[in-house]
This record gives sequence, structure tokens and C-alpha cells, in this order.
Amino acid sequence: KNVPKLFEPITIRGVSWPNRMWVAPMCMYSSDYGKATDFHFVHHGSMALRGWGNLMFEATAVVPEGRISPEDMGIWSDEHIAPLKRVVDFVHANGAKIGIQLAHAGRKASTLSPWVQRKGQQAGWTGGEVATDEANGWASDVKGASAISFDPATNPHPTEASLEYIEHIKEAYKAATKRAKAAGFDYVEIHGAHGYFLHNFYSPLSNQRTDQYGGSFENRTRLGLEITKIIRDNWDGPLLYRVSASDWLEAVEGPEKDANGEWRWWGLEQTTMYAKLLRDAGVDLLDVSSGGNDPRGQYKVGPGYQIHFAEHLKKNVPGLLIGAVGLITTPQKAEEILDKDQADVVLFGREVLRHIDFPLRAAEHLGVAANPAGQYERAWSRMLSSI
Ligand code: FNR
Repeated sequence: KNVPKLFEPITIRGVSWPNRMWVAPMCMYSSDYGKATDFHFVHHGSMALRGWGNLMFEATAVVPEGRISPEDMGIWSDEHIAPLKRVVDFVHANGAKIGIQLAHAGRKASTLSPWVQRKGQQAGWTGGEVATDEANGWASDVKGASAISFDPATNPHPTEASLEYIEHIKEAYKAATKRAKAAGFDYVEIHGAHGYFLHNFYSPLSNQRTDQYGGSFENRTRLGLEITKIIRDNWDGPLLYRVSASDWLEAVEGPEKDANGEWRWWGLEQTTMYAKLLRDAGVDLLDVSSGGNDPRGQYKVGPGYQIHFAEHLKKNVPGLLIGAVGLITTPQKAEEILDKDQADVVLFGREVLRHIDFPLRAAEHLGVAANPAGQYERAWSRMLSSI
């Protein structure tokens, strides 16, 4: 066997990644009213220096009320561009690619970030998870597909997004895409997963609208497809979409589709139909996650618990690249996923935070020369040439 698949480059729309070890988007709750800070510079910079082929800015809100917590990233004004560009330029100088996940938190907006909850120091903090208006939040201005709370104990009660609001959000995605281009990002990922705005629309559990955005599969997926097309029209580069392949409600509600052919919840059958439409609308790679839209979801969490979703989509949606994510923590497992053709790239979340030098160690495990990239490589070759 020659080069392990994890170390094979991949090219999408003219952008070439050095390998298939990709960092998953992760909220860091460290922004200054949506702006990237020194934290993000060091966070992404460190990963670029250690051989990760692909980095991704966490869920970045296209409007202020689209943040999950007050400390989340945003890209709703031109002032957000320069701090992002500073990170992007450094990452590029060190051999990695970097994208941004454009997001709107929908009915799960305005919650306290984990470290604020623990400290409980924010004015107005009551011990729950809602970021009240007094605690820098906007709990009274949270929008979902319908006025149905994710969980009244932990989340604000949303109002139904009006048609005017939906138009406003489409414009916000368009403006955000132009800003992402100005910041120099290599690709854009649409956050369509985990119970946030777009997932609120496509899942029948959170969407009881009676207009053109609710009811049928076609209506529920309309907004996600419209936003995809708007971005595609304003962005020449690679376009990714993160989807939740299932609400995991089989054990609670029975099959995804009832005996009359009505969809009860969102599952793999609809995801497969949606994936084909997303591909036709210009999505290059589907980043396959799951869950997050209903607290009753029954997860079988364990190593690689979402891989079967990725594998199904890889087999059934030709022409669409697939990313696998979810408790993938060893180079051997990641290599196996690529080898079995279950996915085209592997994304790592928590493992990156635990072992930031994973790519260098993966190279050792899989028998590849573990040369670091960028500035480290220049220092490295200097040393080799001087001995
Ligand atoms: C996440 N995850 C996540 N997903 C996403 O699409 N956008 C995001 O901003 C975040 N934020 C986030 C923060 C933190 C601290 C964690 C741990 C996770 C989910 C993440 O991308 C990934 O899908 C899961 O963590 C599963 O992969 P791992 O961690 O098991 O490799």
C-alpha cells in the first residue's frame, strides 16, 4: 500500500487540501460581539502548524440574533472581516486551508455559553440555560420555523419567522458570503444541522407552518435550498453543507414515515432526497452529522456512531462528496473509513482539542514521513541541511 488515504490530497473547485484530516467546526465562546479575537488566532494557528489539512471557523452567525450564545462568532457587519482575515492569512502561510461555517441558531439561540453557566456570574443569571435579555441575551427575540420551543426548561420560546424575516435572512447569508470572500476563506459551509434555523425548517417536528415553507418535504426544504442557491450565485469556491441525517426518533415516534405516507420526523430517507437536491443546487460536499433538533432523540453514541449515515449517502448520492464525523479518534479508524469508501474526508472535533498533534502522530502510525508544514517545515529543513 502506498500513501495512506488520510494523507491523499483532495481538490474541489480548484482548491487543494493537503490531506483528509479535517477539523470540525467547534464553538469556542470567545468572540467579542461576533468578532474573532487573539484566542481564535492562536487556536486555528496552532492547528495549522501541526498538520491539520483543513480548519473551519465555528458556527458564525449571519445576524446577531442568530448566535447560539452572546460569545459566539458573527459575520453580520464589515467590521468582522479584518479579524477573520488575520487568522486566514496566518493559516494560509502555514500550509492549511480554512473555511467558515455560516449559521443561524434559530430556536436554539440566546443560551448561555457553558463557561458562563458554570460561573453563574452574568447579571440576571438564574441558573437555567437561557441567556435572558438582562444577561446579554435576546430571549424575547428568538425566531424558529414555528413557535415551538426546543425545550421550555432550557431554551427561550421562539416566535414564528415571518416571510419578511425569511427574506431578511436570505439577504444576510448573501452579505455574509461576500464578507467570507473578502476575508480570504477557501470555502463556505452552510450550517444546516443540530436543530438550528435550517434544521427547524426541514424537520416536521419543529415546522408546523402552513405557508410555502411548511408541510410537504418540498416546502420544508425550500429555505435551505434557496440559501444554498444564493450562496452558490455569490461564491465560486467549494461549498459544503452540514446536515443532521436523523432526528433519531424511531424509538419514540416509530418509523420516519407513517402508514399514510406522512413524514413524522426527519430521517435518512428524507436526508437522501435532500442531499440530491443540495448537490444539484451546487453543494460539493455534505458534512454528515445528526441529531440536535429534539431532546427526546435516542442516540446510540459510540465510536463512529454516525458513519452509517455517511456511508449510505456516499453510496446513494453519486457526484456528492461526503464527510464523516463523530467520535472518530484513531488514525486507523479514520483510514478504514476512507478505505471502505464510507466517506471522502474525515472530520475530527474533540480529538483535536485533546491531541492537537494528531496528524503528526497519525503520520507515524501509518508510516508516512511526518514533516510539519509551513514555518515549522522551513525551520526543519534548515536543521537538516546544517547537519
Ligand atoms: C461542536 N460541534 C459543532 N458543530 C457544528 O456544526 N458547529 C459548531 O459550531 C459546533 N460547535 C461545537 C463545539 C464543541 C466544543 C464541540 C465539542 C462540538 C459538533 C462537532 O463539530 C462534531 O460534529 C461533534 O463534536 C462530533 O465529533 P467528535 O467531537 O466526536 O469528533
